[in-house]
Amino acid sequence: MTIPQPIAWTPDGGVRILDQTLLPDTERYLDLDTVDAVAEAIRTLRVRGAPLIGIAAAMGVTLSLREGPPSLGAVCAASKVLGATRPTAVNLHWALERMERRAAASTPARLAADLRDEASAIWDEDRAMCARIGEAGAALIGGDALVLTHCNAGALATGGIGTALAPVYTLHSAGRRVAVVADETRPLLQGSRLTAWELSRAGVPVTVIADGMAASRLRRGDVTCVIVGADRIAANGDVANKIGTYGVALAARAHGVPFYVAAPTSTIDPATPDGSRIPIEERAASEVAGWRGHPAAPAEAAVWNPAFDVTPAELVTAIITDRGVFAPQDVAREV
Ligand code: MRU
Repeated sequence: MTIPQPIAWTPDGGVRILDQTLLPDTERYLDLDTVDAVAEAIRTLRVRGAPLIGIAAAMGVTLSLREGPPSLGAVCAASKVLGATRPTAVNLHWALERMERRAAASTPARLAADLRDEASAIWDEDRAMCARIGEAGAALIGGDALVLTHCNAGALATGGIGTALAPVYTLHSAGRRVAVVADETRPLLQGSRLTAWELSRAGVPVTVIADGMAASRLRRGDVTCVIVGADRIAANGDVANKIGTYGVALAARAHGVPFYVAAPTSTIDPATPDGSRIPIEERAASEVAGWRGHPAAPAEAAVWNPAFDVTPAELVTAIITDRGVFAPQDVAREV
């Protein structure tokens, strides 16, 4: 099974990323040498997905030491720049707080080695959490399955085999017949460009549908379950994920299809009481009004472009985590 690796260290300690804005037609890797370059890559979604932006930001913090004498102040300044890139995914802030804590406990002489060690640990832990989500999700599904997903919560969004796609890969590796229906995920097409790309490379059958087709597909009765990722899970189990997820959850409930959220414990935010308190990123109008420079709406039309929505806990059948499967209202007790 071929699973893409969207991030790596360069031989000289820089950050190498797969530029996800160019997929599926072009597979190009970028070497990033500055904190600002990593921040730009996160902001523009060259590197994306809640766990992966946490890993990228942690690795990006290490680059601050190239820009001046090693100090806690330099680390905190880099953390501030990286933390301001995207507001919704809590993994970003969770990873940066870990880097700051590690820097505070270090010395100028050891700082570079300690920061690299911490960033690598965040990445390694995410890889292991993805594997455990895969096992827990595969056991929950139990056998052959047709899984509908929204956005990309696969290898391209994490340091391992993904979150929503982890049970799919685990079942596929175990020889089960598993296939995926991927919502295309307007406006930036993470479903059709990224999810379909990585599943195809891994040999998992995938059918791409436009977002507006999901309800009809769920009514057909052949979808075993929906599995989506998450950018932040509030203390009461409300889930922020890519815009459009809420509509899929409503349709799944209407048609009696289980709606699962798969996420590592780093995505759970007990400090946010409910979904109404999750900051929702609003992105440029041009993302909705056009595609790669081609207009998709008249210039006069107003545009609303929230990047995420909140699915209330009552629509979530269960949350699949690296520590097992939980009712949404119980999951915050795990962190
Ligand atoms: O804007 P994106 O592409 O970063 O949004 C990604 C998602 O919404 C994912 O579903 C989420 O981050 C979970 S990734 C394991």
